[in-house]
Amino acid sequence: MFLGIDIGTSAVKVICTDGTAIFASATAGLTVQSPYPGWSEQAPDAWWLATCSALAEIAKTVPLSGVTGIGLSGQMHGAVLLDSARQVLRPAILWNDSRSTEDCTRLQNALPNIGSIAGVLPLPGFTAPKLMWVAREEPEIHARIAHILLPKDYIGLRLHGELATDRSDAAGTLWLDQTAREWSEAVAAASDTDIGWLPRLADGYEVVGQVMASAAAETGLPAGIPIVAGGGDAATGAVSLGATEPGRGFISLGTSGQLFVAGDAYHPNPSKYVHAFAHTVPGRWYQMAAMLNGARPIAWLAGQLEIDAGEVVALAESADASRVPTFLPYLTGERSPHGDPHIRAGFFGLEDSTNRAGLCRAVIEAVAFTFADAVDSFGDTIAGLPHLAAIGGGSKSPFLLQLIANATGQRIGRTVGSDAGPALGAARLAACGLKALSLSDLGQQPDVADWFEPAHNEDLIDRLEGYRALYRALKPLNQQPK
Ligand code: XUL
Repeated sequence: MFLGIDIGTSAVKVICTDGTAIFASATAGLTVQSPYPGWSEQAPDAWWLATCSALAEIAKTVPLSGVTGIGLSGQMHGAVLLDSARQVLRPAILWNDSRSTEDCTRLQNALPNIGSIAGVLPLPGFTAPKLMWVAREEPEIHARIAHILLPKDYIGLRLHGELATDRSDAAGTLWLDQTAREWSEAVAAASDTDIGWLPRLADGYEVVGQVMASAAAETGLPAGIPIVAGGGDAATGAVSLGATEPGRGFISLGTSGQLFVAGDAYHPNPSKYVHAFAHTVPGRWYQMAAMLNGARPIAWLAGQLEIDAGEVVALAESADASRVPTFLPYLTGERSPHGDPHIRAGFFGLEDSTNRAGLCRAVIEAVAFTFADAVDSFGDTIAGLPHLAAIGGGSKSPFLLQLIANATGQRIGRTVGSDAGPALGAARLAACGLKALSLSDLGQQPDVADWFEPAHNEDLIDRLEGYRALYRALKPLNQQPK
């Protein structure tokens, strides 16, 4: 039996599987701290406590003594800074934090070809500019850094005591040379980072350590069982869907959103902020449009209206489709395709008659529109999009998936077990590392339970054009958060 542990932004999720069937799953919630505009942080210890509590939940259904291997997955790009005693120096700075905007400009100027080395242009979500911000604003902390880890790798450290990461998560730091699949001296040097602080690189299915006795005592896991490196959540989501094989693709509708297509070559397209990153298995890369807000605006609106996300969707379905306002969904700025950390969200076109249903519909349509922009951002970097599998919390809504199919013109397939996502992919990497699955088995695709065929809807396309025009009009007004 294999465990997949996914360190998300809103929750830690653990699933227990034989590599295919899921025996148990549990989640433990997390909160994000934003003490200043544009900041987004979490305490690494909160990930550990949530991991322990999700494991305790799993143990109520399946004895942890039967676990033979573990794979890790996690939110990408976050900076976990450790001192020489491997103690956390400050809260982790997360993927949707925008404080390091001016550092990105400095990095880009210092290394004009960074987009072709690192697969994407500098943006504050990535890890390297966060280190430049720490060097500038918190020099006393910067002076004490001895190690840098990504979120899932911090949980790895707590479990096995090693400093290691996998190449798909390393890919999102900007420090990885995506062609060589090794750390780049040039990028580290240009971003106030000692290359010696970076963890050892592994492929996702490589065993990087064993559960320590102390971690076994804290979690109930058997001591000594192997842990594989795993992957960043985009890549492990791909592994859950067989998107390790070239040409396979999916959309993910979680706290963030992604359009992801796997390939067997490195094709950077930095001008559109498409990410070209190393995959978690050798000889594979992926193209990804990464949207910072994903399906999160639905949860945000649900929170403000004090209803649940399902009710937001139900209200949206009941709205008068001929009088829907426009919503820009950029609660935390946007990465693909705008590369704009300053833009913020807003409603436009409210009328005296606009009601809750109209607001809900505007928010759901905006989520669909971000995927239309994502599809366009790929341009000619891939030969044509395949049908897209859908994963993440937002994929529970047929209404949203149909809107995405209509707005993008792409066929969407919701797969069996689509809610297991990255945690399942991480467990499958563990199964591969322990030879229960082969590398080619990772390409197995789950069955599609529901298809969403694109239907042309002239009104929706008009509103998409209005949404794009609204962004263009507002862009010049954006200000850097204080
Ligand atoms: C991908 C990205 C998000 C985070 C959080 O580039 O920023 O997917 O990994 O889920």
